[in-house]
Amino acid sequence: MSETVLEIKNLKANVEDKEILKGINLTVKSGEIHALMGPNGAGKSTLGEVLIGHPNYKITSGKILINSRDITNAAPEDRAKLGLFLAFQSPISISGVKISSFLRMAYNNLYPEEKMPLKDFFNMVKAVMKDVDMDESFISRSINDGFSGGERKRFEILQMVVLKPKIVILDEIDSGLDVDALKLVSAEIKKMHNQNVGFLIITHYQRILKDIKPEFVHVLKDGKIVMNGDKSTSDRIEDEGYDWITG
Ligand SMILES: Nc1ncnc2c1ncn2[C@@H]1O[C@H](COP(=O)(O)OP(=O)(O)O)[C@@H](O)[C@H]1O
Ligand SMILES: [Mg+2]
Repeated sequence: MSETVLEIKNLKANVEDKEILKGINLTVKSGEIHALMGPNGAGKSTLGEVLIGHPNYKITSGKILINSRDITNAAPEDRAKLGLFLAFQSPISISGVKISSFLRMAYNNLYPEEKMPLKDFFNMVKAVMKDVDMDESFISRSINDGFSGGERKRFEILQMVVLKPKIVILDEIDSGLDVDALKLVSAEIKKMHNQNVGFLIITHYQRILKDIKPEFVHVLKDGKIVMNGDKSTSDRIEDEGYDWITG
């Protein structure tokens, strides 16, 4: 099984000339589960967006590497080709693009040599939809068009499973999910973890961490990682919030 390593080295990033990330160091490898926690406004989503190459954020210093390849300024598609996947906290709707076309296009971009027959591809997609309790009719709807919060999240998970990334970044994947949906989502994450996928789970609350036990828990405050701990760190955050962590 091939190993994939995502390295973040002394990463600093601005939004509109305001420094949000103030020197982040973090390494996520295949098969590892990392949780990135922190209070609102700490910069968690900013880190996720910067990792996937969102154009609103300007990296002012530091590097992002996948398997030692510098992807600091790479296009989002190229990052995806190297195995990175990010589920956005507020997925945008791309009106007029059907889920079916979107998934097929994204898959063919990532695996051009595979040439999976259309029928096999959609059977695979439908099987995953069943696992995450999405109605089959979703496949012909436009992306995120009129989706509820929970439906958007399921769609993110559908993409994650279908596109077979090596390192997955999930930003607040549990928000807007009821208990049953959260169980389905957790089950998919665990399946992929068993297939040696690495995870960076960004979350304000530790609700999802009850089911998916992270080996590493990092706490982000004011753009800096102020603690590198383990599951006990997230347990204590549940009881006491973030105030006790001063870095
Ligand atoms: N597009 C943006 N424009 C202006 N400010 C932003 C933008 N994105 C994030 N910020 C600011 O960056 C800081 C960190 O935000 P964010 O990364 O969303 O935090 P978190 O996900 O930890 O709650 C906040 O002060 C937020 O207002
Ligand atoms: Mg956020």
